[in-house]
Amino acid sequence: MKFGFFDDANKEYVITEPRTPYPWINYLGSQAFFSLISNTAGGYSFYKDARLRRITRYRYNNVPIDMGGRYFYINDNGTVWNPGWSPVKTELDAYTCRHGMGYTIIKGEKNGLEAEVTFFVPNNYNGEVQKVVLTNKSGAEKTFKLFSFAEWCLWDAQDDCTNFQRNFSTGRVEVDGSVIYHKTEYRDRRDHYAFYSVNDSIDGYDTDRDSFIGLYNGFNDPQAVMAGKANDSFADGWSPIASHYKEIKLGAGESKTLIFILGYVEMPVDQKFEADGKTINKVKAKAMMEQFDTPEKVDAGLAELKASWDKLLGILNVDTPDDKVDRMVNIWNQYQCMVTFNLSRSASYFESGIGRGMGFRDSNQDILGFVHQIPDRARERIIDIASTQLPDGGCYHQYQPLTKKGNSDIGGDFSDDPLWMILSVSAYIKETGDWGILDEMVPYDNDESKAQPMLDHLKVSFYHIVNNLGPHGLPLAMRADWNDCINLSCYSDTPGESFQTYTNPKFAAEGGYSKVAESVMVATLFTYTGPNYVAILKHLGKDDEAAAAQAEIDKMKKNVMASAWDGDWFLRAYDSEGKKMGSKECEEGQIFIEPQGFAIMSEIGKEQGADKKTLAAIDERLNTKFGLVLNNPAFTKYYIQYGEISTYPGGYKENAGIFTHNNAWIICAAAYAGQGDQAFKYYSEIAPAFTEETSDIHKTEPYVYGQMIGGKDAGSDIGRPGKNFGQGKNSWLTGTAAWNMVAISQYILGVQPDFDGLKIDPSIPAAWDGFNITRKFRGNTYNIAVKNPDHVCKGIKSVTVDGKKIDGIVMPVFEAGSVHEVEVVMG
Ligand code: BGC
Ligand code: NOJ
Repeated sequence: MKFGFFDDANKEYVITEPRTPYPWINYLGSQAFFSLISNTAGGYSFYKDARLRRITRYRYNNVPIDMGGRYFYINDNGTVWNPGWSPVKTELDAYTCRHGMGYTIIKGEKNGLEAEVTFFVPNNYNGEVQKVVLTNKSGAEKTFKLFSFAEWCLWDAQDDCTNFQRNFSTGRVEVDGSVIYHKTEYRDRRDHYAFYSVNDSIDGYDTDRDSFIGLYNGFNDPQAVMAGKANDSFADGWSPIASHYKEIKLGAGESKTLIFILGYVEMPVDQKFEADGKTINKVKAKAMMEQFDTPEKVDAGLAELKASWDKLLGILNVDTPDDKVDRMVNIWNQYQCMVTFNLSRSASYFESGIGRGMGFRDSNQDILGFVHQIPDRARERIIDIASTQLPDGGCYHQYQPLTKKGNSDIGGDFSDDPLWMILSVSAYIKETGDWGILDEMVPYDNDESKAQPMLDHLKVSFYHIVNNLGPHGLPLAMRADWNDCINLSCYSDTPGESFQTYTNPKFAAEGGYSKVAESVMVATLFTYTGPNYVAILKHLGKDDEAAAAQAEIDKMKKNVMASAWDGDWFLRAYDSEGKKMGSKECEEGQIFIEPQGFAIMSEIGKEQGADKKTLAAIDERLNTKFGLVLNNPAFTKYYIQYGEISTYPGGYKENAGIFTHNNAWIICAAAYAGQGDQAFKYYSEIAPAFTEETSDIHKTEPYVYGQMIGGKDAGSDIGRPGKNFGQGKNSWLTGTAAWNMVAISQYILGVQPDFDGLKIDPSIPAAWDGFNITRKFRGNTYNIAVKNPDHVCKGIKSVTVDGKKIDGIVMPVFEAGSVHEVEVVMG
């Protein structure tokens, strides 16, 4: 069942039923000011850091789930409704929500009155603009009342939802005409305030929540709205809010536009107040209001935002035989890559914004799907991440975006972390040709005195693996590898211990974690990633270092084949007792997805057919109609030696859930091995646009990936196998976005930036006649037409650039600013 449709021409998903199976959200803002907005206008705003600088309040895990947001209430002679249906939930005569690129338009109609609200964060602007257009379609004059609503958060979102003994006595506001200012703690230690304005006169306001809503009422029946009159309440402690009240009269056919702005302002300390030393200095706020005080200015701001997205999305554009692929690649997957790049794993409807900062591995992987959009921002991010690295190549697992410092509460010793940086730096150089990044002086542990060239960071990353091998010559597993839930040094039997940070004291003497437990996944990630480091060294003429690094890669491949090949697939790990994990010999969890794709793409054991065997085993044991499960059979009991993984009921999350992130590695691997049909099958099982028809099962947004889909074992624990099979969770902020972008664009469609140029090597469904792709690369535009006359999955007969055949499959880099016609014939 569908709940809307894709409007590709406008790059929008149009929701036509407000009761979606879960709130379907969008993000506004992509620089510093961000908002989350659901299809009923639920959500919140923050500045840069969802935890430390939260602007409006939102209650997670609420009942109902999505209560709280920026709401407009209309009281039309006793009929009270919202343009987005919720929270009042009066049945509307018409409803649509258009989620677009950085904007959302919600339109509702009731009793001949239409209210359309456009929400967006303009470029280079620290505020959310809300354009409200009210149109009287009733054929007779109408008089009604409009109320706006936003609830302030007292800045630190964690403190805001826990420290009530203090917070109920700190809230402060100022009202100046039609503008409500939130200034809690501004007099004291803060240099920032927020405001909510409207570009017209008002007939009243409320700034105290209990006065507006009422202590025994809810968002669905706020007392002031129901009574049809604001109280002009003035918050002094408790919960400050901002609500404007306006009486409006519209003749038949007449409409009225109002512009509301929810803004954030920072002031230099010596300019915080007016001359009286008390009243806040509103100069900057007023300038922000003036920037968008007419519908024309708002429309121009939205047009500019749309144009900047058109430009960004124009860097990579495809025309394939499948519309769903086109809308994923050209619009939604790229859009999601921008959002994950910006927010890492901090704030979504599944991430509360107070939990995690920026993840070392997460942010490095996010760059893989984002780097072509704004390479300069990718570069800046790479330097930020690398600056938190430790001199021996180890990494803080996370850092806070506001301070950019490594987070010592979580610490390090995640065995995969350093490798992702080799991959992100390589992706950056391949995209831009900017080898200069390797000379950039980058601190270790945020200490400038310990700065070394970026190349040194790659070296210590590479050798961090080489220097930390276990008994089989495979990398030590440490606290966890990519799979945060395989914790081989944890042995936790006490509730509340974090599986990621707790290591059992029995390993204290060994340095904190087992020196026996090894990760095959890190081994194959090393053999997949390492060749990039070798290529970089060769490019720099460091042949001896390159040869030494290559020798380590070759050795690792041998070790994997000698100790981690299980006959039909690769093992997952050795546990701290040296026992195999992910082997036929195991009772449960016999095969895991993570090491397989990288092993295939590293060609480990290829001469013995390891790639084909592994792909066949994956297809047989892991594949389902909704994607590939992470492991099989699912764990049905707690294996203390494995850690968090077996705490999940089978079919969920890392215990045999369909973890879409690592599905992409198999899509890449199948494509790499020439199995284009298989690759495409796995791609289409999970790509959001393909799940649209089954939105009632899939639940989460059909335009973005979620981290997890219920696997085939879901429900088994409660004796109802298949219960939540196919049900998505944790949408938006996941490495799935970047990796599936890589899988479809670089491996299936096969347009792959390489150090020396743009490589083209598609691996597509044999049935396709071909496809077209436009790729802007290092200042040039390549219009590529791929023809597949023999209906093969993979293989290239010829590549012609501007009418001339070239040798090989790497298109040369031309002088910037030129356009090139490329014809690729497969066969
Ligand atoms: C989740 C992982 C996540 C980890 C760290 C676990 O509970 O299952 O997906 O990466 O927590 O936050
Ligand atoms: C989510 C985390 O953000 C990511 O870092 C991790 O690799 C996966 N979960 C798998 O556990």
